[in-house]
Order: sequence, then structure tokens, then C-alpha cells
Amino acid sequence: MLKSDARQWGSVAKFFHWTIVLLILAQGALGLVMVELPKRPDVIPVYDFHKSLGLTVLALALLRLAWRALDPRPADPPGMPRWQARAARAGHAVLYALLFAVPLSGWWFDSVAALRPLYWFGLIEIPHLGGANPALKEFAAETHETLFWVLVAVAAGHAAVALVHHFHQRDEVLRRMWPAALQRRGAAKV
Ligand code: HEM
Ligand code: HEM
Repeated sequence: MLKSDARQWGSVAKFFHWTIVLLILAQGALGLVMVELPKRPDVIPVYDFHKSLGLTVLALALLRLAWRALDPRPADPPGMPRWQARAARAGHAVLYALLFAVPLSGWWFDSVAALRPLYWFGLIEIPHLGGANPALKEFAAETHETLFWVLVAVAAGHAAVALVHHFHQRDEVLRRMWPAALQRRGAAKV
């Protein structure tokens, strides 16, 4: 089922959700390791890979938001208080904003640093966001790092709430976002 309905997230929404989660984990780990490497020419490919993967996350976030505009959202679990539904929506809006802000701030840093042209996996040249500005380099790098940690904190809270739904409230909230293959395996065990 490609589209979501009142009970379930569809496979497209699940694909976007879990692919982006995995890419962000990989990007975060890569970014943190990368900045500790000695600044030598042989680390350039690592930086280029981080930038390309980050731009991929940005493109996926755009596609995800476009799909969301066409796709219905499953109903809130029965009996969920209004404040909780509102808080969930606000949390999701913040996550969406960060999904754009983190890669955009990396792209901005790359643009003000303007060390070399930016390519997506060596294939497509991506324009810089404005001209070189060495005075902004440090601020842009700090913005990218801080936004990343804000994303980590908000996503950790979001994952914790999903686990509370599953193990404490025992509702369908986590199950209906679970990849279909894992849902089937879980059902087979019962
Ligand atoms: C979801 C996407 C992204 C995530 C999660 C991410 C995460 C990170 C993290 C955790 C760091 C290390 C920060 C530090 O400790 O100083 C980093 C550094 C960096 N990122 Fe990203 N990043 C993303 C996208 C991008 C994009 C799209 C670009 C450029 C087009 C980019 C360019 C850079 C650069 C150049 C650095 C090194 C900064 C420095 O030298 O201080 N990132 N990133
Ligand atoms: C980088 C990490 C993550 C990000 C950026 C993220 C982002 C999002 C966003 C934006 C939504 C809203 C979907 C929509 O309304 O269109 C969502 C839904 C959801 N996420 Fe995540 N998520 C992350 C990690 C996780 C993890 C680790 C879990 C599970 C432990 C999880 C479980 C869920 C569930 C169950 C929903 C559906 C909520 C509902 O039906 O109301 N997410 N996520």
C-alpha cells in the first residue's frame, strides 16, 4: 500500500521516514569523525562524500514534504488528549524544520568557505549559496554543529515518545510506522 490511510502509514511515508533516519545517523557519525581527521588532502573525498550524502538528505526531505501534502495522515489513537495531539504535531513540525536546517547550514558553511566547487557525488555541480565570506566561516560551522545537536535532542525525545506509546500505552503508533517486512515477522511470532 503506497499511500497512508486512517490506520496505517503507507510504504512511501515509511520509506522516507526510515531512510532519512538511517542517513542522518550515518551523516552525524561521519561528520563527527571527519572533523577530527588531520587536515590533509587525502581527507577531501571524505568531506565530499559527507556533503553529497547531506545534499541527498535535503532532496529526500523536500520529496518527503511534497509527498506528505498529497498523502493522508493516519488518525490519532482513540482517546488521545488534544494537548498531546497538538504537541505531537508541533514536535513533527520542528523535526521537519531541522531536516532542512541541518543540511542547509552545511551547504551554507561550504559556500562561505568556498574552498572548491561543490559536486553531488562528482556528477552534478551544485551552486554555492552566495559568495565566499571568510568572516562568516566559523559562525556557519558552529551553526551547522549546533543545529545537528538540536536535531539529535529533538529526535531522541521523539523516539522516546514513540517507545512510550508502544510499551506503556500499548497503542498502534509505533507499529503503524514500522516497515511492513518487520510487521509481518512480528505477526508470525504471535
Ligand atoms: C542531514 C545532513 C547533515 C548532517 C546530519 C551533518 C552533520 C555534521 C556533523 C555532526 C558535523 C561535525 C560538526 C562538528 O563537530 O564540528 C558536520 C560537519 C560538516 N558538515 Fe555536515 N551534516 C549534514 C549535511 C551537510 C551538507 C549538506 C554539507 C555541505 C554541502 C555539510 C558540510 C559539512 C562540513 C564542510 C563540515 C565540517 C565543518 C568544519 O570543518 O568545522 N554537511 N556535519
Ligand atoms: C533522525 C531521527 C528521526 C527523525 C528526523 C524523525 C522524523 C519524524 C517526522 C517528521 C515524523 C512526522 C511524520 C509526518 O507527520 O509526516 C515522524 C513520525 C514518526 N516517527 Fe520519527 N523520526 C526520527 C526517528 C524516529 C525513531 C528512532 C522512531 C522510533 C523509535 C520514530 C518513530 C516515529 C513514529 C512512530 C512516527 C509516527 C507518529 C504518528 O503516527 O503520529 N522516529 N518522525
